[in-house]
Amino acid sequence: MTVTARDDAPAPAGDAGALTVYFDGACPVCSREIAAYRRQPGADACTWVDAAACDPRALGPALDRDAALAVMTVRRGDGTLLRGAAAFAAIWQALPRTRALGRIAAWPPVAAVLEVGYRGFLRLRQLWRPASAAWPAGLDGELRSDHAGETGAVWIYRGALAVARDAALRDFAARHLEAESSHLRTIEAIVPPSRRSRLLPAWRVAGWLTGALPAIAGPRAVYATVAAVERFVDGHYAQQIETIDALLAGDGTAPAEAARLRSLRATLAACRDDEIEHRDEAIAAGAAGGPVARAWAALVGAGSAAAVALARRA
Ligand SMILES: [Fe+2]
Ligand SMILES: [Fe+2]
Repeated sequence: MTVTARDDAPAPAGDAGALTVYFDGACPVCSREIAAYRRQPGADACTWVDAAACDPRALGPALDRDAALAVMTVRRGDGTLLRGAAAFAAIWQALPRTRALGRIAAWPPVAAVLEVGYRGFLRLRQLWRPASAAWPAGLDGELRSDHAGETGAVWIYRGALAVARDAALRDFAARHLEAESSHLRTIEAIVPPSRRSRLLPAWRVAGWLTGALPAIAGPRAVYATVAAVERFVDGHYAQQIETIDALLAGDGTAPAEAARLRSLRATLAACRDDEIEHRDEAIAAGAAGGPVARAWAALVGAGSAAAVALARRA
């Protein structure tokens, strides 16, 4: 991920309308501070995005959820991102009551001191920032299996790249490695380390072999493998989206939980759309279709199902 961090960038005076603020709504201290800013006159001119609960697409280009939750971030009207103390200086300058303070905070020597203080705060914050609450209806297990699956997907392309010499296949694998790494970061933001599969080393090895073995046979075997995996993943995400829809359709979901579920649904639906595209791209690239390839695809599908069943539990 590329973040344009300009700690020494000029303050966005007079540019309040264009400022977008990404904050960690799961941290009570950050939420309280942002709520205080939002009560001030002029706050409506800014866009306030809860990075802990928003649709990942609301974060905009060059910013993922992990990065947005790790450090206070704002986006200026010209699209550049400011992080840490520079972000606070921009917010203060955007609000009329704190504009003068913001100008002082943006002065590089002051900004440097504030940055040190803010980094200290981030260390302390680990003491109280809660791990995300459990999900209803077995979704915790499903999300653990999504995390295991996206880990495996990353390693499929690492395995393929370790073996493949075909230029088109290497390009395909490199692009897909990037896409799956982005999925993995998205799911990592939802599934804290304590809730991840204990079998991650095994999923990495299994993924690597699932990419490397067909790469020995040639590009068409890799495309057939990717098509089989993505066909399975499409169904797996679709099933979770159905579960969430059923929960949202029922009466027993509190409004805050419903908002959290809608955000999760949007995240999973975005991943699923990508996986469908990956499947179609693999088929269009020339996925092998003979009896051996079909038998291999069936084995890959069954292996994926077995891995998900295991990862749901451990
Ligand atoms: Fe993926
Ligand atoms: Fe994929």
